[in-house]
Amino acid sequence: MTDNKKTPIDYEVVKSVIDKSGFEKVGKASIREIKFLIDNIEKQTGDKFIRMEMGIPGFPAPQIAVDAEKKALDEGCASMYPDIDGIPELKNEISRFVKNFIDVDVAPKYCVPTVGSIHGNFATFMVAGRMNKEKDTILFIDPGFPVHKALVKMLGLKMDTLDVYNYRGEKLREALESKLKDGKVSTILYSNPNNPSWICFTEEELKIIGELSNKYGVVIEEDLAYFAMDFRKDLSVPGEAPFQPTVAKYTDNYILMISSSKAFSYAGQRVGMMVMSEKLFNSEHKDLLDYYSSANFGHSVAYGTLYASTAGVTHSAQKGLAALLKATNDGVYKPWEVVRKYGDRAAKAKKLFTENGFSIVYDKDQEAPIADGFYFTISYPGFEGFDLVEELMYYGISAISLAGTGSERTEGLRACVSFIADNQFPILEERLKAFKANH
Ligand SMILES: Cc1ncc(COP(=O)(O)O)c(C=O)c1O
Repeated sequence: MTDNKKTPIDYEVVKSVIDKSGFEKVGKASIREIKFLIDNIEKQTGDKFIRMEMGIPGFPAPQIAVDAEKKALDEGCASMYPDIDGIPELKNEISRFVKNFIDVDVAPKYCVPTVGSIHGNFATFMVAGRMNKEKDTILFIDPGFPVHKALVKMLGLKMDTLDVYNYRGEKLREALESKLKDGKVSTILYSNPNNPSWICFTEEELKIIGELSNKYGVVIEEDLAYFAMDFRKDLSVPGEAPFQPTVAKYTDNYILMISSSKAFSYAGQRVGMMVMSEKLFNSEHKDLLDYYSSANFGHSVAYGTLYASTAGVTHSAQKGLAALLKATNDGVYKPWEVVRKYGDRAAKAKKLFTENGFSIVYDKDQEAPIADGFYFTISYPGFEGFDLVEELMYYGISAISLAGTGSERTEGLRACVSFIADNQFPILEERLKAFKANH
């Protein structure tokens, strides 16, 4: 542990902010709480941290979308309710997008915008979690995004988790099957690429998940918040392979959640895309009648939950996203040319961390080295994650512990690259060298 040694950020200031915070362990604080502490240290010392704690987009929103929103507002869309299940032009573009970049055919009817993809999770957990009284559990393939678990808790559903670290490839089948055998699981959720580990499931693994979905009648919620951001492959050409890998190739019991927040740098407008398979959308479940006017899955999602919770997505945001998707579908705009810079930053940052004694925790997709993307995971010999979060604060580096993400690798931290400025890499290097020298 650093003990009054010379540290890049004033030792006394960091210590006093930590002591005053009242946390038993500061590394256990939530992301927002850590942000608050770091803001405070930065203010007191005048030193800038390498901010890696929050997963927020680091690029401006695309002008095409901003212009389309302005135009729609000038034309008066603000006074009119949009359709609950999405305005037709957006539904069409989502359907085209799914065909162009995932190579899956889904009619516009089954493509529904939501208030951020998280709202789609809310609506579908609510329906999928109640459509069969026997199936009251949501299974997470972890590590994962803590908000998903908060949703399950809020909805009074049960949850189970599986840390995928030791179950890559064919091993995933047995591990998942052991969780599904008792017939309690209604839904499996995972993100791909994964927040926080940046694992990208292989076709073999997606096939296993799809096969088990069919065998046990389980809905798969595939969270594509980081759509086509596995930069090892160029997934960005409309209508041309390779495509964003998906479980939709292996089961027709799926819901795809496609966030506009990260791949399209459109987080502020809170508009995401929910794509349901035709079969699931049209399926009937009599237990839904306890909650909704219809036993129909899609009806209960759109005209039950979405209506009663938000009555649709802000009209202008739908117009903005429709314009953005149209340009992307037409090949006129390439969102991944912007966001692939996250991958370049991750490659540089990972190199600096590993050169200075850190290890990448989730380091492989089966045999292949993990991709460089929005997040990566790190550990340092002799440290538990909670303690490492705290220790790094003295070195002007902020990150969060993996413990809150459902990971069993409690020695690990999640680091997000979205806010590292290009001119900060020499500073990061200096600070990591100082860390290594002191440990
Ligand atoms: C895995 C994952 N899913 C969903 C979201 C949220 O997406 P949205 O902003 O569309 O609600 C995030 C954002 O960090 C995420 O990491």
